[in-house]
Amino acid sequence: MPSQRIKLVTTSIFAFVGACVFFASCDRDPEIIPALTNDDVKFEYPSYFPQPVYAFQNNMPTLEGFELGRKLFYEPMLSRDNTISCGSCHQQVSAFANTEHDVSHGVDGLLGNRNAPALQNMAWFTLFMWDGGINHIESQPLGPIANPVEMDEDINNVIAKLSASTAYRKLFKAAFGDETVTTQRITRAIAQFQGLMISDNSKYDQVRQGRASFTAQEQSGYQLFQAKCNACHTEPLFTNNGFRNNGLPVDPTYNDSGRMHITLNPLDSLLFKVPSLRNIEKTSPYMHDGRMVTLQECLDHYTNDIVISPTLDPLLSSGSIPLTAQEKADIIAFLRTLTDTEFLTDPRFRER
Ligand code: HEC
Ligand code: HEC
Repeated sequence: MPSQRIKLVTTSIFAFVGACVFFASCDRDPEIIPALTNDDVKFEYPSYFPQPVYAFQNNMPTLEGFELGRKLFYEPMLSRDNTISCGSCHQQVSAFANTEHDVSHGVDGLLGNRNAPALQNMAWFTLFMWDGGINHIESQPLGPIANPVEMDEDINNVIAKLSASTAYRKLFKAAFGDETVTTQRITRAIAQFQGLMISDNSKYDQVRQGRASFTAQEQSGYQLFQAKCNACHTEPLFTNNGFRNNGLPVDPTYNDSGRMHITLNPLDSLLFKVPSLRNIEKTSPYMHDGRMVTLQECLDHYTNDIVISPTLDPLLSSGSIPLTAQEKADIIAFLRTLTDTEFLTDPRFRER
């Protein structure tokens, strides 16, 4: 058998070298990623999605605006020491959440107090951030840029740095007609990029469109989900855009009061934005401070660990969503159908 073994070894060496060359070139050579066309920046979504909140009024996406938005999203010059970009914390493999950290790490390794949420379907958001402290997709980027534990940069310095770059002046001209860099142009370009991050091709979507069908276990999980979870994590976006207290114990390190931090209303104490569960399999760690690592832990929270407090959501006032081990497994099987591989690997959103 020696000759056969040699053949096997040489073929695998060729396959290995071939794969390396292939992947290395995918990684490094931007030409390999196909150039975008105007069709790639159309704002399209399935018929069963609700009306968007942001339909790009006064900021219709163009190829040039979107490309500038992507470049800015991955631009470390947006931070004080030119080390951190939006993409450092929001990574495409995890639906633009962050799998490395429970709470975010910004300039100088400074720790924030919240977990970076997934970025998807933001054209349907009424409010942004775990506490709803930002109310418009076009003003949102100014939050992390100024935040002392995130990018810690003055927007005027960002404008100065970008204006000093010939490449950026060209991109601003292509997107907005002249070379002037302004705050509004920066935020509108990022809004074009972020607003087109639409996740709508999970197995769940394919089932809704009649292109796939659930397994028996997924179907059982779907029914349980509709009965026990859908009031807050409402399909098809898997959030009702509301703020709720789902009974997590308060972490004394952060003492995060959630929505009350913004409204100062004690009735809003410990209410957090209901996160979408799309791509949930990929966005661990979970909850506003990344305290849970597995979906099983999240389910166990709802059955066993809900803390009764004055602002606990009435739907949970009995202190438990009763579920058997089998029912939890079924729900998790259903949640996995919300993974949208096309979105997670879409070359339009990749750094280049
Ligand atoms: C240091 C890590 C970090 C950086 C850098 C960062 N973010 Fe975030 N992002 C977070 C965290 C953490 C949150 C949640 C903050 C909160 O709720 O207070 C968040 C929230 C958001 C949200 C709200 C999502 C939702 O569900 O409401 C958007 C949109 C967003 N970031 C976009 C950006 C953009 C655009 C940039 C670059 C200009 C950026 N982020 C830079 C960590 C980061
Ligand atoms: C009363 C509203 C409500 C109900 C009912 C509810 N949730 Fe939640 N869920 C929330 C809120 C609010 C959060 C975020 C809490 C936080 O981080 O402080 C959350 C967080 C989660 C997370 C973590 C998401 C992330 O991105 O970090 C998962 C997973 C989850 N819920 C699954 C479920 C499942 C499965 C059910 C049904 C068994 C369910 N939820 C029922 C309101 C609800």
